[in-house]
Amino acid sequence: MPRLAALSTRLPLLRTAVAAASAIPRRRIVCLLPKRAFSLAPTARAAAAAQALTSAQYPTLRRNPDFKTLNDNDVAFFKSAIKSPAGVITADTPDELEPFNQDWMRRFKGQSTLVLRPSSTSEVSAVLKYCNDNNIAVVPQGGNTGLVGGSVPVHDEVVLSLQNMNQIREFDPVSGILTCDAGCVLEVLDNHLAQKGFIMPLDLGAKGSCQIGGNVATNAGGLRLLRYGSLHGTVLSMEVVMADGRIVECGKPLRKDNTGFDLKQLFIGSEGTLGVITSVSILTPRRSRAVNVAMLGVSSFDHLMEVFKQAKMDLNEILSAFEFFDRTCLNLVKRHIPNVRAPFDADTRFYVLIETSGSNKDHDDDKLSTFLEHVMTEGMVEDGALAQDATQAAGMWNIRETITESLAKEGGNYKYDLSVPVAQLYDVVEEMQKQLAERGLYAADGSATGAVKHVVGFGHMGDGNLHLNLTSTGWTTELTQAIEPPLYKSIQRRGGSISAEHGVGLMKAPYLSYSKSADFIDLMKSMKKLFDPKGILNPYKYFPPS
Ligand code: FAD
Ligand code: MLT
Ligand code: ZN
Repeated sequence: MPRLAALSTRLPLLRTAVAAASAIPRRRIVCLLPKRAFSLAPTARAAAAAQALTSAQYPTLRRNPDFKTLNDNDVAFFKSAIKSPAGVITADTPDELEPFNQDWMRRFKGQSTLVLRPSSTSEVSAVLKYCNDNNIAVVPQGGNTGLVGGSVPVHDEVVLSLQNMNQIREFDPVSGILTCDAGCVLEVLDNHLAQKGFIMPLDLGAKGSCQIGGNVATNAGGLRLLRYGSLHGTVLSMEVVMADGRIVECGKPLRKDNTGFDLKQLFIGSEGTLGVITSVSILTPRRSRAVNVAMLGVSSFDHLMEVFKQAKMDLNEILSAFEFFDRTCLNLVKRHIPNVRAPFDADTRFYVLIETSGSNKDHDDDKLSTFLEHVMTEGMVEDGALAQDATQAAGMWNIRETITESLAKEGGNYKYDLSVPVAQLYDVVEEMQKQLAERGLYAADGSATGAVKHVVGFGHMGDGNLHLNLTSTGWTTELTQAIEPPLYKSIQRRGGSISAEHGVGLMKAPYLSYSKSADFIDLMKSMKKLFDPKGILNPYKYFPPS
């Protein structure tokens, strides 16, 4: 009770702050990081995790002998088909080759000896036609930030990187429709739009590296989905190169087009198994003039749900993000990311980052003020801070966005991305902690002394999407077995999905049946046969192994 009393006395301070930002004393917010940071440097993360070849980790996943092993003639053809001298990387330069063979988590490692980086759709077409004619397996690759092992080869598949296809083709400021090459980096697109007063309808911690083609291929969710919806709604059309080299326009950059099947929807989330996306047209909204960011400390998941309900009620159309993370996530960020401090001292079980975006600052401030008054007077929140400027807002976002990097730095990071009814989100984390503790793999007191050091939860609460992460010293079959079948069974029991936004890739392919029926998977296989009869595109992934 004394705590609540203390909060109530703070409330007027917050209210004043919302109405007149300068009224908040600076000391309320101490997290002052420059901007959202994202690092891909291998040395800066996961240093401890030894990386075994994927083929050794999955010995049953044998190389398909129907696929051709590359010879000098093949390489000569690719060199002639791709004009740019930097467009072909071979085993002659193993250091250049390596990053294309290993995934961001450093969990999966392929053995490709050839990376192709075409600069145009016609070059992609020529490459795929040749590969199809010659039974050469191909892995399409964007920014290689995928988290399910889908973007790197399993064996010696050729890597088809979209890196060099990075031109913005057109932007219409009246409709807000952007058309660009698939290899454009998400952050570059967002910066481009910012100058015109628009914003990309999606945002991820990986935005400095991931590409729009990769985003569409994975149907990435991210931090703005709550506000702008999924790519199934915002992508208007795309250009795709089929496995046999045919170039197909899937729709036009129009908001309305009811002619024929909406085939682009099949490519959204198909993870490079049906075709290679070479350009995308996407509907972009106006950038909001008024943005507020607050971080609140909450003592229980029940309270967190109350805060969420209140946010939807009080903030309604201006609510643009509702992200949560638990105490361990914050502690790991503080441990691994330089200069990060929480914006307030209270050590609570959960934290929530709330963002509002609107066009009228006074209107938004009033709404936020009402919301904060409710959650604080009604005891849903222990403590909180409201960013006073863009730098402080970026500092708060930085905490949320560097959780992934911090977990990776702990070593072997078992990463799960699931949807279940919102009320059950954290039950999944607690259930996992209990199960592993019973098997002696996790210290129930949270002392990080077992084989599994941390079992944490964070994610897009507004979307019912939990990121359950476990850290260990490495990946072992024993741990994987202890975690995965029970977890996937639990998600199925709860009516959830085993992949909310990261996709299926290699990691979840064997478990697809926990989310999809046998008939559904059969239909998927029929589609695959139709689009890619020889199965050259991203083999060994997405579909359960037969
Ligand atoms: P890649 O990793 O290169 O490829 C992913 C898959 O798409 C592969 O199967 C690949 O074959 C296929 N592919 C790539 N490009 C094409 C193409 N042009 N045509 C056909 N297939 C293609 N994901 C989320 O959903 N939400 C998040 O909030 C989020 N945050 C992240 C934060 C961090 C720090 C990191 C490292 C990752 C995060 N991710 C998130 C995962 C990842 O960034 C997304 O899946 C992203 O969309 C992948 O884009 P990419 O360009 O890196 O694709
Ligand atoms: C996120 O929401 O931060 C991403 O999906 C990445 C992750 O799950 O680690
Ligand atoms: Zn996410």
